[in-house]
Amino acid sequence: MELLDIYVYGSPLLKRKTRKVGQLPDNFPQFLERMYATMYDDNGIGLSANQVGVDLRFFIVDFSLHDKNMGKEVFINPEILQREGVDVLEEGCLSVPGIREKVTREWKIKVRYENIQREVIEKEFEGYLARVIQHEIDHLNGILFIDKISPLKRSFIESNLKKIAVKGKTQTEPFSI
Ligand code: CO
Repeated sequence: MELLDIYVYGSPLLKRKTRKVGQLPDNFPQFLERMYATMYDDNGIGLSANQVGVDLRFFIVDFSLHDKNMGKEVFINPEILQREGVDVLEEGCLSVPGIREKVTREWKIKVRYENIQREVIEKEFEGYLARVIQHEIDHLNGILFIDKISPLKRSFIESNLKKIAVKGKTQTEPFSI
């Protein structure tokens, strides 16, 4: 399967809020398979649409990489309804390769989203899974985890970010499904 291009830091598409998903295109299931293949290739646990250049509000996860009892899931038009508690943990991102930083997030969240059958789901997540979902919803709102660290820490990684942005700045064209 042909992998998708991952849009990296510096691409304007990662800084824009994505569009709400309306009717899904016929080839959506096939496109998701390509997204999963791209995510696994980079050992990711989550991947948002705009990380592959698609201006739509959805992301994929494979929680089985963290918890064997869970699996693949698509979150369409997700919104966080409630947030609770605090948790600090190191994060990375396929769009910011080679950089890991501690990020403060809520411990527990309640999310409303549509699944692949377009059923509206309301569900609570906590700990690591809540963190992944917050990270991906941030992507859909044009926010990267490095936007949430202190200016001092950010200054330490600025030269690495500039190197990543050399590629990112060329990724200006959206990818259409
Ligand atoms: Co990310």
